[in-house]
Amino acid sequence: MKPAKLHYWVLGWFSMALCGWCTSNKFTQSDNHPHTWKKLYLVHHWPVTVCKMSANDCEHPPEYWTIHGLWPDKTEECNRTWHFNVTEIKDLLSDMRHSWPDVLHSSLNRTQFWKHEWEKHGTCAATLPVLNSQKKYFGKALELYHHIDLNSCLLKAGIKPSSSYYEMTAIKEALTRFYGVTPKIQCLPPEEGEKAQTIGQIEFCLTKELQLRNCTVQNGESKPMPADLKLGTEELSVCSDTLPTYYPSQVQDHK
Ligand SMILES: *[C@@H]1O[C@H](CO)[C@@H](O)[C@H](O)[C@H]1NC(C)=O
Ligand SMILES: *[C@@H]1O[C@H](CO)[C@@H](O)[C@H](O)[C@H]1NC(C)=O
Ligand SMILES: *[C@@H]1O[C@H](CO)[C@@H](O)[C@H](O)[C@H]1NC(C)=O
Ligand SMILES: *[C@@H]1O[C@H](CO)[C@@H](O)[C@H](O)[C@H]1NC(C)=O
Repeated sequence: MKPAKLHYWVLGWFSMALCGWCTSNKFTQSDNHPHTWKKLYLVHHWPVTVCKMSANDCEHPPEYWTIHGLWPDKTEECNRTWHFNVTEIKDLLSDMRHSWPDVLHSSLNRTQFWKHEWEKHGTCAATLPVLNSQKKYFGKALELYHHIDLNSCLLKAGIKPSSSYYEMTAIKEALTRFYGVTPKIQCLPPEEGEKAQTIGQIEFCLTKELQLRNCTVQNGESKPMPADLKLGTEELSVCSDTLPTYYPSQVQDHK
């Protein structure tokens, strides 16, 4: 992206974020459509925790938050004939490998993860003109990820991977202060005999105009479908505000 365009985008982003009432109806779709959705989740996961949940080939997970996906709420697999085609995102591949790696299958063909995300979520997101091609969907998700810049927000707030524990409310307050919205934070619950939960996923909610919004359910909205990640027997769920929270720096042999 060229600097001028980036600058424009950043200004746009912050003015949109600050100006929640300046909504446009440009992208509104009919509520009668079978695949209607109301908000998007930009889902980040913590690769160390993802690896801890699974016995897959997780060699040296990155120690930064990576993209899990860009998910419309309430709908999945909206067009089974719109196949993933990696050639369409060839210009994005180096950023994709860095920012959106297949954490669980680090040695396999990475495109499988992107194919899955496109078919399950991208084909639904594509009802918005700004997301209506594979290049736009993956490109916009990367752009949002870089602008939200969760990794540097957490660092600035002094929240780093550590062997000691955090209070969930401290993490939540830091994020809310920084972004002006409260994301949804998911954890692995404590294991048998342990007292701490482990942070695993941070989901930012976006309107159809791609503005940050609170993840809380607003009046007139039905409850979103659970966006939980299940791997084997371990499952992420919304973090408890009262349990100590572990933000691990490396995969530990905890079995
Ligand atoms: C599904 O995707 C195919 C391929 O892009 C497209 O031709 C078709 O119009 C789409 N169908 C719907 C219902 O959007
Ligand atoms: C994949 O995308 C490329 C570039 O748009 C196109 O040339 C090619 O025909 C597509 N392949 C399939 C199988 O649709
Ligand atoms: C990876 O997957 C893509 C598309 O699914 C395929 O075109 C490519 O040949 C695969 N590469 C390897 C090394 O298997
Ligand atoms: C999000 O919720 C907080 C606290 O309820 C509120 O102060 C803030 O204005 C909300 N932000 C947006 C963009 O709705």
